[in-house]
Amino acid sequence: MEMKNITLKFGGVTAIKDISFDIREGEIRAIIGPNGAGKSSMLNVISGFYKPQEGEVWFRGAVRGPVKPFQVAQEGIARTFQNIALFEGMSVLDNIMTGRLTHMKTNMVAQAMWWGAAEKEENENREKVERIIDFLEIQAIRKTPVGRLPYGLKKRVELARALAAEPMLLLLDEPMAGMNVEEKEDMSRFILDVNDEFGTTIALIEHDMGVVMDLSDRVVVMDYGKKIGDGTPDEVRSNQAVIDAYLGVSHD
Ligand SMILES: Nc1ncnc2c1ncn2[C@@H]1O[C@H](COP(=O)(O)OP(=O)(O)OP(=O)(O)O)[C@@H](O)[C@H]1O
Ligand SMILES: [Mg+2]
Repeated sequence: MEMKNITLKFGGVTAIKDISFDIREGEIRAIIGPNGAGKSSMLNVISGFYKPQEGEVWFRGAVRGPVKPFQVAQEGIARTFQNIALFEGMSVLDNIMTGRLTHMKTNMVAQAMWWGAAEKEENENREKVERIIDFLEIQAIRKTPVGRLPYGLKKRVELARALAAEPMLLLLDEPMAGMNVEEKEDMSRFILDVNDEFGTTIALIEHDMGVVMDLSDRVVVMDYGKKIGDGTPDEVRSNQAVIDAYLGVSHD
């Protein structure tokens, strides 16, 4: 994936100023920066939710034209949100099943009538979802309404739903925000396992520098809508512009 000279404005506010960077197949790419730097906006450009006023988004060798977010999902891009977006009254299992919607080909009428094709598809969807439930170790809560879960587990369910879409590229907006140390360790392990076992490319926003350094292959640093650093965790850590941007800034 390649972002070329992206500029994004909201009225008078320029959230992203002429930023270019790439995401290589199979890597874990972190986007970091102080609050309001434009990180979530950038993720929304990648996911097709925001259309930049300037610049081009390239994915798998082709420039992206005008698309709807569901078309981006069909291209193999899935995401989680900075503020959890799950159906609180629905069970964990049903929430994860909604992640498979982009893969469902049979129409609703056929499903309602339980015709052969629909039944086969339903079973395949269930199998894929069960595999993800095992993978993320959430068997014990599969029937629990999401609204009753503690925060850390909700975040894990949101990851499960994104994985249910079998994405090629997974976008995670602060997957560990608000977690305690143990929950962060679990989530870090799951992200690494997803990358290893499914070969999923991952772009993630994270404030905890320790986590970023441990997880990511390469890091983009944003500040006030501009790119101020790009490289391996070690390169970025010793970049003076990055050090300056982080001095005296709260990262929660
Ligand atoms: N929908 C919107 N409408 C107007 N302004 C917006 C909108 N979304 C973001 N902005 C502005 O764009 C800038 C970048 O916001 P963004 O949410 O991308 O930052 P961020 O790096 O994700 O910050 P945080 O670490 O707090 O999540 C901010 O000045 C913000 O107020
Ligand atoms: Mg954000």
